[in-house]
Amino acid sequence: MDDVNNESKSNPQASFVVVANRLPVEQVTNDDGSTTWRTSPGGLVTAMEPVMKNQDGAWIGWSGAPGEKLDPFEADDIKQVPVELSQDEINEYYEGFSNATLWPLYHDSVAFPEYHREWWDAYVKVNQRFADAAAEVAEEGATVWVQDYQLQLVPKMLRDVRPDLKIGFFLHIPFPPGELFGQLPWRERILEGLAGADLVGFQTPEGAANFLRLLRTRMNYQVQRDTFTTPDGRRSRARAYPISIDVQMFEDLARSPEVKARAKEIRDDLDAKTVFFGVDRLDYTKGLRQRIRAFGELFKSGELDADEAVFLQVATPSRERVEEYKRLRDDIELLVGRINGDMGRIGRSPITYLHNTFPRSEMAAMYLAADVMVVTPLRDGMNLVAKEYLACRPNNDGALVLSEFAGAALELKQAYMVNPYDINGMKNTTLQAMNDTAANKRRRMRALRRQVVTHDIKKWASDFLGDLDPDMKPDEG
Ligand code: ADP
Ligand code: G6P
Repeated sequence: MDDVNNESKSNPQASFVVVANRLPVEQVTNDDGSTTWRTSPGGLVTAMEPVMKNQDGAWIGWSGAPGEKLDPFEADDIKQVPVELSQDEINEYYEGFSNATLWPLYHDSVAFPEYHREWWDAYVKVNQRFADAAAEVAEEGATVWVQDYQLQLVPKMLRDVRPDLKIGFFLHIPFPPGELFGQLPWRERILEGLAGADLVGFQTPEGAANFLRLLRTRMNYQVQRDTFTTPDGRRSRARAYPISIDVQMFEDLARSPEVKARAKEIRDDLDAKTVFFGVDRLDYTKGLRQRIRAFGELFKSGELDADEAVFLQVATPSRERVEEYKRLRDDIELLVGRINGDMGRIGRSPITYLHNTFPRSEMAAMYLAADVMVVTPLRDGMNLVAKEYLACRPNNDGALVLSEFAGAALELKQAYMVNPYDINGMKNTTLQAMNDTAANKRRRMRALRRQVVTHDIKKWASDFLGDLDPDMKPDEG
């Protein structure tokens, strides 16, 4: 966190407004009861923060803590407008409907989605609060960009009171096929909510196609290619905009003497010929159980020698009060403990597991220290970790093992591709990535880096905002 200015300003007005469940900074309470701010977790904030830093706008979101409404403030050069959530709303809207209904349903139902009417009621109520906040902050004719699955009702709610606005929506996670989406008791309300936007963005063409098909079949909207017409005669569009990262920022970090020195220190500490690396929010969509099982088997069979190879897995604490996440943490810690207990010796564990959040420079040092990056989600909207690793390899060395089920797989075709449900296949491809010739690795890495360098976050924002409002091109930072 660079800078927080607590000077409160009431009713800020802005011509560009981002609305997301979370602010880019979250409030944390220290042991002594005092509070501080730090960067919020997850890919949405990593991606949107640089977009917002280049704009003179406001970001509406929740502080991450229960309670009172905070005054607007400025942090990291971004005007932040907090929306409050009570403890009950955190339980029902955030942990409940957003993360125990929508999150699993939209990720192929890899965990069982729960449907509760009270959770839905809280979702409607909180979405209305975010829409009201946006209606208050947006200037006449402003552009408002609503983000992600927690706020799918906001576009329509906002349009109902502010038809003068340009409203965009971007979904950071997959949009499921009709057979899954159809389970939702409130499916029409969600479709109507999203259709309130002038432009609805998805990570992949498949997500956009799923949405457009549902508008046609469930809502009877007229749909022609990527354009749909709502019952009141308004024409909007739904398209894919694969999200990215601030490539230059990660590359600059990786080139800095401090990060290089730290990477060397990490390698010295790990003391291995080959370093495998995984880093994810501790989430059941990330394929952690399968990945760790695969490494356990490779060490057990001797295909990986625990004296020569190490697997570093970093897991960011996430949604810790939701049942599935508690279960996942227990499972992972049991698995890692078992593997290290069976296959380690004094002073040497095949898996180094860290349950913690790190600053970006430390992340860059870990990417730089890793020979093989292992990204194996069961389903993922995009996966920015894969792109960050590539951005941190300006020397064109290293190897990326990537799941077919990550949105990023559509762009990063030269990765060592795996099906995370196929443990044997994943083991073979991981070994192939380790043992491939330097020339082959370099050839793949060059092609992968070319893709991320030419498709960075600036291009993503400018593509989306240019389509939403041709007069509005984001400022060059
Ligand atoms: P998701 O959005 O589902 O969390 P992504 O891979 O798209 O997944 O984005 C994760 C983001 O969180 C990346 O920017 C990554 O650098 C960051 N991140 C992941 N783990 C950690 C960690 N332990 N400490 C700090 N940042 C992390
Ligand atoms: C993913 C979601 C984001 C979310 C982030 C972190 O990236 O797409 O909307 O903010 O995970 O999750 P959390 O529940 O901590 O906000």
